[in-house]
Amino acid sequence: MKRITVNTQTKYDVIVGENLIHNCAHDVEKIIGNKKICIISDENVWNIHGEKVKNQLSAMAKSVCVYTFAPGEDAKNIENLYNILEFLAENELKREDVVVTLGGGVTGDLGGFAASVYLRGIRLVHIPTSLLAMVDSSVGGKTAVNLKKGKNLAGSFYQPSLVLCNLDLLKTLPEENYTEGMAEVIKYAVVFDENLFEDLKTGEYITEEIIARCVDLKRIVVEEDERDTGSRMLLNFGHTLGHSVEKLSNYGISHGKAVAVGMAVLTKGCQKLGICPDGTYEEMRKILELYKLPHDCDYTAEQLVNAAKNDKKSGNSGISLIIPQKIGSCKVEKMSYEKLLEIVKAGKE
Ligand code: GLY
Repeated sequence: MKRITVNTQTKYDVIVGENLIHNCAHDVEKIIGNKKICIISDENVWNIHGEKVKNQLSAMAKSVCVYTFAPGEDAKNIENLYNILEFLAENELKREDVVVTLGGGVTGDLGGFAASVYLRGIRLVHIPTSLLAMVDSSVGGKTAVNLKKGKNLAGSFYQPSLVLCNLDLLKTLPEENYTEGMAEVIKYAVVFDENLFEDLKTGEYITEEIIARCVDLKRIVVEEDERDTGSRMLLNFGHTLGHSVEKLSNYGISHGKAVAVGMAVLTKGCQKLGICPDGTYEEMRKILELYKLPHDCDYTAEQLVNAAKNDKKSGNSGISLIIPQKIGSCKVEKMSYEKLLEIVKAGKE
C-alpha cells in the first residue's frame, strides 16, 4: 500500500492499494464516522461495486443514501448537477456530512462539483474505479460539468478529503477502459519522467507502484500550482487537441483516445517544425500502439484548431499550448491560432 499526502490548501491523502475501505478503515472512519453520506455513482459501476462499498461504508456512517445516474460523458451536465443538489437537500445532508463518489472521471467531476457548492462545500471522498480517475481526475481538486460550447466549462477547484485508489476495483475494468487510463499514464511520462517512459515500454499491466508514481507527479504539480495558472497547465499536454477530437466526434471518441491523438498530432507537428528532436514522435507512436491507443484522427487541422478556440486555455487572440521538448520534458507556450494551425497541419501530414 502506498500513501501520498497532497499539501494543498486543504491537506489530504491519496492511498493506493487493495481493499482500502477495510485496510484503511481508520482513515475512512475519521471522515465519515457517524456522518450522513451520499454515494454518487453511475449505474454500471453501482451494479458491479455498489452494494459491497455501501455495506462497508454503512458500518461506519450514520446513514447512507445513494444517487445513481446513467453512465457516460453526457451525464456531466447542469441538470444532473441540479438533481444531485436537490437529492442532497432532500436527504438533509448538513455541513458536517460527506459526499462519496464511486466511479470514473465523470462521476468524480460531477459529484465533486456538487460537493463543492452544496451548502457552500461539504466534505468529499473519491473512490475512483477507473485507471484514468486514479492517476488523474480524482487528484488535484478539479470538478466540472460540460456546457454546449465545450468540455468542463463550468466547475470549481475543490480538494477532496481522501482518495482511495482501490486496485481490486480495476480488475473488473473492461480492456477499453484500461486503455483510456494508459493515455494519461503516458502523458505523465512524456511531460515529466523519462524513466517512467522507459518502464512503460515493457507493456506490462499497470502496478500499484506505477499508479503511485503518477499520483506523486500530479501531487508535485498541484502543490506548486493549485489553481492552474502556471505549471499545472503541463498536465494538459495533448488535451487541447484531445478536447477538439472529443467535441468533433460528439464525444463518440473517448477522452483517453482523444488525448492520445492530441499528444501524437502535436508531437509530430513539433518534430516536423524542429521544436522537438527527431525520433520523439516515433517513440510516442510506438508507446501508443503498444497500449492500443490511436495516434491520428479523420479531422482536418482546420477543424481541430477551430474546435480548440472554445478550450479553457484559449483566449481571444491565442492559446496556451503544452509543447513537447523531448520525452520527459514539456513547456507551456502562448501562441497565436495561426501558429497552432501551422503545427497541427504539420502533425496531420
Ligand atoms: N487533469 C488536469 C489537471 O488536473 O490539472
